[in-house]
Amino acid sequence: MIKQTSSPLRADLDAIPAYVPGKTHPDAVKLSSNEMPFGPLPGIQQAVMDASANVHRYPDMGVVALRQALARRLGVTEEQVATGSGSVGLLQHLLQAIAEPGAEVVHAWRSFEAYPILTAVAGVKSVPVPNTEDHRHDLPAMARAVGPNTRAVIVCNPNNPTGQVATAAELDEFVEAIDPNTLIIFDEAYQEFVTSNDVPDAVERYSDRPNVVVARTFSKAWGMAGLRAGYMISSPDVVRTVSKCILPFSVNMLAQVAATAALEVEETMRERVAANVVERQRVLAATRDIVPGVPDTEANFVWLPLGDAAADFAAHCTAQGVIVRPFAGDGVRVTVGLPEENDLFLRTLASFES
Ligand SMILES: Cc1ncc(COP(=O)(O)O)c(C=O)c1O
Repeated sequence: MIKQTSSPLRADLDAIPAYVPGKTHPDAVKLSSNEMPFGPLPGIQQAVMDASANVHRYPDMGVVALRQALARRLGVTEEQVATGSGSVGLLQHLLQAIAEPGAEVVHAWRSFEAYPILTAVAGVKSVPVPNTEDHRHDLPAMARAVGPNTRAVIVCNPNNPTGQVATAAELDEFVEAIDPNTLIIFDEAYQEFVTSNDVPDAVERYSDRPNVVVARTFSKAWGMAGLRAGYMISSPDVVRTVSKCILPFSVNMLAQVAATAALEVEETMRERVAANVVERQRVLAATRDIVPGVPDTEANFVWLPLGDAAADFAAHCTAQGVIVRPFAGDGVRVTVGLPEENDLFLRTLASFES
C-alpha cells in the first residue's frame, strides 16, 4: 500500500461543500430549479433531432451563427458576445479571467448560491454583502465594499432566490460609484420575466461602458436548461480575454442549433413568460395570505422567508409530492409552475403547521 504524506489537491477546496445529487422523485412536481414548465419551445426538438445526424463532428468552436443572431437581436457587435455552457459556465470563465492572487469579488448575499462556490474554485476571495431587510441588494453597501483588490462586483437582477430587483435609478447611481477599472457583472438570468418599468435591461442601458458585463441564459425563459447555453455581452476586450478561458467547444452542437432556433420563436417565448407571470402574481398573492413578509418578485419564483421553519416546510412539501428549494434557517424558493402544480403547492402550504 503506497502512503501519501500530503495531498496534491488544493486544501482550500475542502471548504466547498461537495455536490450531493438531489433525491429523484419521478412523480413529484418539481418547483425547485426555476425551469419553465411548458416543455421545449416549438421547433427546438426538431432542430436538435436534425443536428444529431452530425454529432460525430465537432461543433463550431466560434459559435458564429448563434453569436451573430444574438448580436443582431441585442444591437451589439459579434465581438461583444461570448457564449458558454450555461451562464454559470461563462461566469466561471470570467472569474478565471480576473483571478490574480488576492483578487476579490463583491456580491450580494443571500444571492445565487453558485457565487461563493465559483469564486472559491477560481481562487478568488468572495466578499458577500448582506441584503437589506426587504431582501434586496444593498447597492450603497456593495459599492462601499469595493476596495483596491476588487476585480468585479456581481449584481443579480432579479435576485435569485429572493426575486427582488434593483431599479434603474439605483443602478445609475451604482455604476457611477464603481471605479471604472472594476467589472460590474449583471447576472440577468431572469431578465425576460421582469414586468416592472423601473428595472433596466442592462444590455440596453449600460453595455456601452467598458467595465460592464451582462450574463444571460437560455435555461430559464427560453426553456433550454437541459441543453446548457448561456451568453455574455461586454466590451470586445473583455470578451476576447474571457474567450481565452472558455473550455473549447463548451456550447455543444445541439445547444448551438437549439438556441439559434429558439431566437426565431421569441414571440412564443414571450407568450409563455406572460402566462407564467399571471401565475406568479396569483401564487404571490396566495402565499402572502399565509406567510408574512413575502417580497415582490420579478422572476419565475417566489421567496418565502420562513426562517427556521424553512427545512421543515421543504420536507413537508416533499412528503406531499412537491419539490421546493430550501435554504436552511433562511427561506424557501418556489418556482412558478403550471396552474395545477401551483394549486398543489398552495394546498401544501396551507396544510403546513410550523
Ligand atoms: C441568477 C442565476 N444566474 C445564473 C444561473 C445559471 O444558469 P445556467 O447555467 O443554466 O445558464 C442561474 C440558474 O439557476 C441563476 O439563478
